[in-house]
Amino acid sequence: MTFSWADEVRDLAKQRNAVILAHNYQVPEVQAVADHVGDSLGLSRVAAAVDAEVIVFCGVHFMAETAKILSYDKTVLIPDEKAGCSLAETINAEQLRAWKAEHPGAAVVSYVNTTAAVKAETDICCTSSNAVEVVASIPEDQDILFCPDQFLGAHVQRLTGRKNMHIWMGECHVHAGINGADLKERVMAEPEAELFIHPECGCATSALYLASSGVVPAERTKILSTSGMVTAAEQTKAKKVLVATETGMIHQLQKANPLVIFEPVNRAAVCKYMKMITPEKLLNSLRTMTDEVTVPRDIADKARLSVERMIEIGTPSRTAE
Ligand code: 13P
Ligand code: SF4
Repeated sequence: MTFSWADEVRDLAKQRNAVILAHNYQVPEVQAVADHVGDSLGLSRVAAAVDAEVIVFCGVHFMAETAKILSYDKTVLIPDEKAGCSLAETINAEQLRAWKAEHPGAAVVSYVNTTAAVKAETDICCTSSNAVEVVASIPEDQDILFCPDQFLGAHVQRLTGRKNMHIWMGECHVHAGINGADLKERVMAEPEAELFIHPECGCATSALYLASSGVVPAERTKILSTSGMVTAAEQTKAKKVLVATETGMIHQLQKANPLVIFEPVNRAAVCKYMKMITPEKLLNSLRTMTDEVTVPRDIADKARLSVERMIEIGTPSRTAE
């Protein structure tokens, strides 16, 4: 029997006492070899609880940094440290400090797609699967600074009806590129299909508008985090689902419900950073114990408070094994 790439990865992971975590946007081979696959909240929860000495994070840098913040004594590796996130780059700690100075007393809610230094300036982090609960947990008369994603912020503001929420105008280039025009065209061409939309999408706002104006049937339009999509995929009765998020998501959805056809709204919605983690780099990472993720202790200690508050709030988001 030949020793495959996957056998070698699993074998090395055992030797290193390592757990492999993969985000839902990773390439199918990496998802298949991982111990846990999930969204950013689910994987943060796993990272906080695992016994392994080493965490190999197949995702983008802020996710691996979050794992390091939560499990500071463990070695955290990312197969390519250059796998960044265009959304996390839209705000830095200095900009956040200046914004806080303009709104004294406001609570800072940061999406988990931020650097450790921004998390250290944050009161409570959130992900797309618990952002509504996180905002709802803040006293109604306290102002909120929500950063960095404008589309997620607008979605949360709509659902909570919160008026005293200031939203940073950041966006993810992949999701902002899935626009209302693409969505309308696909929906018109597929009148029977359901729609799963990630709240970071530029089209999330258009989807709600289209639903309220009757162009898209409201009962078939769902705004969901990546794990929320997996649960909805298992439950759907539709024959076809149009998916508005990074295309790597299709793999988990198809696995969750092989009877349904899942199609991306925009086939070009590919996160080049997520795709920097290749099968070869994962193997190399385990062989050479690189690239190690480090966070200065003082930053990690401050950031941990906001991340721990995040993982306490919201229904546990699922991860697959
Ligand atoms: P989730 O929190 O839904 O996993 O999304 C993370 C992300 O980076 C979306 O682009
Ligand atoms: Fe960042 Fe967008 Fe890639 Fe998610 S899809 S990791 S938000 S660049």
